[in-house]
Amino acid sequence: MNPLTKEEIQGRTVLELGCGNASLMVYLAAWQPAFLEGVDLGDSVETARKNMSALPFKNWQIVKADLTEFQSEGFDVVYCIGVLHHLKNPQAGFDAIIRNVKAGGRFHAWVYAREGNGIIIYVVDPVRKIVSRFPWWLTKYFIATPLVFPFFIYAKLLNFLPESAWLKKLPLYEYSRWIARREFAFFRHVAFDQLVTPQTTYLTKKTIENWISSYGNIQRDSLYIIKRNGNSWKFGGELQ
Ligand SMILES: C[S@@+](CC[C@H](N)C(=O)[O-])C[C@H]1O[C@@H](n2cnc3c(N)ncnc32)[C@H](O)[C@@H]1O
Repeated sequence: MNPLTKEEIQGRTVLELGCGNASLMVYLAAWQPAFLEGVDLGDSVETARKNMSALPFKNWQIVKADLTEFQSEGFDVVYCIGVLHHLKNPQAGFDAIIRNVKAGGRFHAWVYAREGNGIIIYVVDPVRKIVSRFPWWLTKYFIATPLVFPFFIYAKLLNFLPESAWLKKLPLYEYSRWIARREFAFFRHVAFDQLVTPQTTYLTKKTIENWISSYGNIQRDSLYIIKRNGNSWKFGGELQ
């Protein structure tokens, strides 16, 4: 969630667009928002409700809806993590974020970058276009698992070797060192997540800048667009 902090969540109304199984909402509930709402169109809303029900925090709601059409009276904070790049029209998702932020509120989003993802775009994405039509179990156990194994070794090796200027030129260097801290099951989950999705768009910084500049009410001095792990963008800011 960085650069969003606990202080920016505590006592505020908060909306997650594309909440999945609510794992981020569970995390944010500990930051004591006044109210926490999640929107998702998938069956994951059932798991999301189960996960939220297990918390002592009770001021939440999960809504099953298409986020691109979602309209509320406005929240203090709207965040959207790992979702816009899966929409047929990612900009419609950005519009939904801005539309649901109150005046004076803030937004935060994370998307796959086009920059730094060349090998994913040219090697993994063509595979995704085929296997995303297969049954999920076939993709998970018979395609994602063997395919991710060489990357698992690559990432662990990069993390083991001392940093050097030439190693940094290797594909997915920063991301590999980040994910290398995790176990094989996490690698497989990430590969499955990449391959199972029917729609992925890798977004350039320029695209994000264009979205932002199409709104006159985003405070320019509050804006951030940060490269994360060398292959994704997180961005956000405050509305006037
Ligand atoms: C990669 S998951 C991210 C879940 C959550 N934000 C997280 O980080 O754990 C993407 C989620 O976006 C949801 N999604 C995709 N398109 C959507 C749409 N048009 N409206 C609502 N949810 C959508 C999917 O159902 C899925 O749960």
